Amino acid sequence: MFSTSSHDGVGDFSEKRPRRSRRGRWRDTDSDTVSTVTLEANTPCTEYDVAYFNSYAHLGIHEEMIKDRVRTETYRDAIMRHQSFIRGKIVVDVGCGTGILSIFCARAGAKRVYAVDASDIAVQAKAVVEVNNLSDTITVLHGRVEDVRIDEKVDVIVSEWMGYMLLYESMLGSVITARDRWLKPGGVILPSHATLYMAPITHPDRYSDSIDFWRNVYGINMSPMLQLAKQCAFEEPSVEIITGENVLTWPHVVKHVDCYTVTLQELESVTSSFHFKSMMRGPLHGFAFWFDVEFNMPGIAAINNNNQAPEDSYNSSLNGGNRKKRSSSEEKVLLSTAPEDPPTHWQQTVIYFYDPIDVEQDQIIEGSVTLTQSKENRRFMNIHLAYNSGGRSFVKESVMR
Ligand SMILES: C[S@@+](CC[C@H](N)C(=O)[O-])C[C@H]1O[C@@H](n2cnc3c(N)ncnc32)[C@H](O)[C@@H]1O
Repeated sequence: MFSTSSHDGVGDFSEKRPRRSRRGRWRDTDSDTVSTVTLEANTPCTEYDVAYFNSYAHLGIHEEMIKDRVRTETYRDAIMRHQSFIRGKIVVDVGCGTGILSIFCARAGAKRVYAVDASDIAVQAKAVVEVNNLSDTITVLHGRVEDVRIDEKVDVIVSEWMGYMLLYESMLGSVITARDRWLKPGGVILPSHATLYMAPITHPDRYSDSIDFWRNVYGINMSPMLQLAKQCAFEEPSVEIITGENVLTWPHVVKHVDCYTVTLQELESVTSSFHFKSMMRGPLHGFAFWFDVEFNMPGIAAINNNNQAPEDSYNSSLNGGNRKKRSSSEEKVLLSTAPEDPPTHWQQTVIYFYDPIDVEQDQIIEGSVTLTQSKENRRFMNIHLAYNSGGRSFVKESVMR
């Protein structure tokens, strides 16, 4: 794991931050934004997509990602460890942004890198490539992966596609498109595997700060505000940093993705049933979600990926209490956004209940979660949680937009 501490503040995600640009700028489309990008699309490019690409034209979003040292250094490390697969080979960088991953690949010895981005940040990427004297190696293509033309097959796909809760933003679909259009048989995808986890959490300080606060405001009883406060604070998923101490049980694998085989259809809706046994007594405030991605050598399956369905094998290992998080062996590079690991700009995503549930040690918390791409905008995510504990059942619907 890489250290996130530094004198220049790079990689410091421990402060409470405002809603970040990675999601948010493109949540509300406005006509000014929409009209500024024209794409000659073979497949439909919705106004939401246009707003999404416009959001990635802003400097701040790239600055935030690049300053996330856990993220960027893990990618650099993974690319360097795969140097033998990259040297002299053809690479496509799906969503190149400023071109940073393409440049890492060029430094790893790639013969040619196609750096594709539909956002206007591609203009800057081209200039960055030029100033680094890499124009002979890196070709920047300003357009959607779904639309641009590459007249040869590629050996390697590299992409940083992960959204909050892994699947938010729905960018993995574009990696699948690139894979099916251009990847040679036996080619490499970086990252190769991804896993989304969830676990019940307790967070009395957060609850108190947002809700109990209204019980006594400068000696005034403002409890009529409570219902509104719960709705405002907990209607939507909250992207924030929690710690391992907030987590009540071993995590559950909601979805394991093998980037070599995953299909677009598989990502439209993901359902997983969970069964937790609380390891301590306390108020249960909600469920936290986080993910990790692995950069495996070709032919090496994700750890624990035996003949069982991956979700089952992960969960039997994790729920057995052997370990909470898989460690990376010499061949594997792991980028983790788990609460017990150094913070990243993804933080964790928490779905809070409106009212906490008091649980005893060993109390069962079970139910199911369904994550569905929104019909309105496939980059939004509908989250349906059904859960029961202590003989009471609950349903919480939320939208990550
Ligand atoms: C999360 S950023 C990563 C940027 C850069 N690779 C990095 O690691 O700093 C994702 C980038 O992918 C681009 N992108 C997303 N979907 C795309 C698509 N279908 N075609 C082209 N670019 C896409 C976005 O515009 C954005 O710049």
